[in-house]
Parts: sequence; C-alpha cells; structure tokens
Amino acid sequence: MHRMIRINGKEYEIDADDRQSILQIINQLPVSFHSNCEYGKCGSCGAIINGKPNLMCKELVGNRQEIKLEPLTIFPHIRDLLVDFNFDLLRQDALPKFDFDYKEMQQLRRCIECFLCLEVCPAFKSFRDKIPISMILNKQLVRKSISQSIQSHLFNCTSCNSCSEVCPQEIEIFEKVVRRLRGLAPIEAHPSHLKLRKRVEKTGRSMSKEIDDTLLGKKFEVEKPIDNLILFLGCFGTLKKRFQELNRRYIEFLNQLGYSVIIPREQICCGSPLSKIGFEDLFQKLVDWNSQVFFVHQRLYDAEIITSLCPGCVSALKSQYHLKEIRNFADFLEEEIEIPKGTYYHQPCHDESRLAEKFNLKENVLCCGAGGGSRSFDPEVSRQIGSLAVDRLSEGERVMTTCPFCITQLETMLSIPVFHPLERFNKKERYIN
Ligand code: SF4
Ligand code: SF4
Ligand code: FES
Repeated sequence: MHRMIRINGKEYEIDADDRQSILQIINQLPVSFHSNCEYGKCGSCGAIINGKPNLMCKELVGNRQEIKLEPLTIFPHIRDLLVDFNFDLLRQDALPKFDFDYKEMQQLRRCIECFLCLEVCPAFKSFRDKIPISMILNKQLVRKSISQSIQSHLFNCTSCNSCSEVCPQEIEIFEKVVRRLRGLAPIEAHPSHLKLRKRVEKTGRSMSKEIDDTLLGKKFEVEKPIDNLILFLGCFGTLKKRFQELNRRYIEFLNQLGYSVIIPREQICCGSPLSKIGFEDLFQKLVDWNSQVFFVHQRLYDAEIITSLCPGCVSALKSQYHLKEIRNFADFLEEEIEIPKGTYYHQPCHDESRLAEKFNLKENVLCCGAGGGSRSFDPEVSRQIGSLAVDRLSEGERVMTTCPFCITQLETMLSIPVFHPLERFNKKERYIN
C-alpha cells in the first residue's frame, strides 16, 4: 500500500506492507535517525509517531496511509529524527543517594534507556534531573547512603503514570518504584505529608476542612430500581460544599436512570493519597476499613456495584481493593449531551473513560500537576508541573473535566470556567450551557 511519511515538515511517499515496522520503512528513506538492534532491545530508535512517543522498530505501519514522525523533544535536535543523546541530561553535581535494596526493584533491570518516559513526563519539563525517573535512569539509586536534600526530588512526581504507559519494557515506574522509594524516604523529608497522615489518622479524611455529613448514611431510593448502588463520596464529597452539591446532582442523575443509591455513613478516605506518598501501612488500614463497610452494605442492600464521582477514588478502588464492580460517572453516561464549541476537555490522569472522544472535544492529556502528593508537598512545584496543561487549556473558552482534584487545581491557574459535566448537565433538557 502507498504511504505518505511526514518527517519534520518534509514529505516522502513509499510503498509498505501493514506488517512492516516504522523503522523498516524509514530505513529506505534519505533521513537520519538512531537505531541499532531493530527488535526493541537497545532503546535507540525512539521518536514521536503520530503524536505519541514509541520505539520505531516496535510500532507497525498498520493500515495508516499517513504517518507523522518527529524527533524526541527532550534532547537537542541534530537533523531529521536524529537527536543528541550525549546531552548532559542529568547534572552530575546533584547525585541522589538512597539506602535500599536494589533487588526489590527488579523491574528496573529491564530498562533499555530509551528515554520515552522522560519525553512524556510533565515534571521532567520543569525539573529535569530532580525527578524520580531521571534519578532512576542515571543509576543514582544504587548508591548506598542517604542524602536528605535529594529525598524531596522523589515528590516532584504527580503519579500521572504517563511514563509507564509509554514504557516499551512495561516497567511500572510509579507503582512499583517511585511509590516504594517514597515509603523508604525518612519522614522528616516531607513534613507536609506527615501532617496529612496525622489528619487522616484523626479524622479519616485527607483534607483539613470540617466534615459535612449531610449525605453520609442516607439512602436515595426509587420505586422498582434496576439496581442498588453504593456511593463512595471520597474526601472531596464530604468536605467541599461544591463537591457535596455535585454528589447531590449525581444521586439525582442515578435516580433518574432508575438506580437506588445508598451512602454508607462509615466510609472514610480511600487511602489513595497516602499510598501515593509512601504511607503503605496506613493505606492498608483504610482499605481494610472501607472493605468491611462495603461488604456489610453490599449484603444488607443487595448492592454489588460501587460508584464514585472521583476518578482518583475509582482508580484506587479498582486497583487496590478486591471489589467486584466499580463504576464511574462516565459508565452511566449513555446518551448524547450537547457541549458548546470552545470547550476543552481536560483528561484526568486516573480516569479511564475518554470523554473527549465521546463528545468530540479538543482534549488536553497533560497532567494538571496536583496529584501524587505534589500539591500537598509544595503547591508551587505542582503549579509548575501543571503549567503546560494550563497553556494548552487557555486556548479554550471553558474547561470540562471529571476530577474534583483537577477542578480545584486548574481553577487556581486559569481565568476561564472549569466545571464538571454534571454541573452543567440537565438530564431532561440535555445541554451544557
Ligand atoms: S508518574 Fe508522571 S510525573 Fe511521575 S515520573 Fe511518571 S510521568 Fe513523571
Ligand atoms: S523506564 Fe522504560 S521508558 Fe524509561 S528509559 Fe527505561 S525502558 Fe525507556
Ligand atoms: S533499534 Fe533497538 S530498540 Fe529500536
């Protein structure tokens, strides 16, 4: 089949089979690029392929007629797809030192140093060598003593998981490495997180506002329900007035769909913020507590499905709890809603539903910078990480997103409205104003 290949503004036409790799076809073109092993093991052939970083030898041409190739942006560009890998990526005067058993992180041994993770990391653009993956790539973690100043670099990471999503070696960089290292960092290295821990121990919530329990313990039933749902409010849903109201709208929305909604009074923080900053022990206690609460209510009300408006909570419930069925807001959103032109959709890192695709909206996939404890660690750091997302979203007239945490962060940085679809969605009239 005939293909059009665009490389840095130049166009090339070539015949290629669907099963050829991108590397195989550009080998026939007069362009410069790095490659070596040609089977995904040396890490040298990274490029941005139709907007997404990948190894050219691992990606097949498929049925695409047009393919756009760009060089990685994090290294100085030489020509075509060739970049300068010798660039002094990591400052040698800032070597972090850690006291841990390298065997615990066997996954890291699979790293082929392709740097695709850095290409997508929102923190790397701001902090270069002072982020966890830079430290990992520089093999600085094998050193055996503790340098306290470096501990803080571990928290310049929002847990967005973009690095793992592009990693050709499927290394779970945040989940299996950064999270674990954070657990090893001495507590004095992050006093704001110690405060957060104490707050959760005392109140069961991760935020310092007073708890509003008006929804807790309530049941919102409909006649002949199609099913009973358990609603997990999350910390936002019990503390912030705006998100209490949002949960009321969610309940109304679910009732209109024919579901009865049960809100267990005893629910507490899902533990996600604690697990992300390394407090695994307390996280497990919260998991055990909430699991008991769910178990009792599931039996009592014959309610198998648990739902929450917070993508962070949904993600934690799905990945860290042993529950059968967890649903988010988008799982119930079947019908079309009209959304005015000029609306940007901000994709929360931990939300699997792709609402931009569903509603054909312009999308920002860059992290807002608030997650993974970076906001509580240092709000200025998190704003810096989120600045790229803000630049993109500022092109729109309004921003829609499904995560309360993203809404809170983006509102402080944008001068256009930021809202959850439910705040503008009227089920009867079906529009977003
Ligand atoms: S999880 Fe996100 S912020 Fe953290 S290292 Fe990976 S890409 Fe960077
Ligand atoms: S961690 Fe994965 S994406 Fe990053 S350099 Fe290593 S192999 Fe490449
Ligand atoms: S050429 Fe070695 S990874 Fe692609």
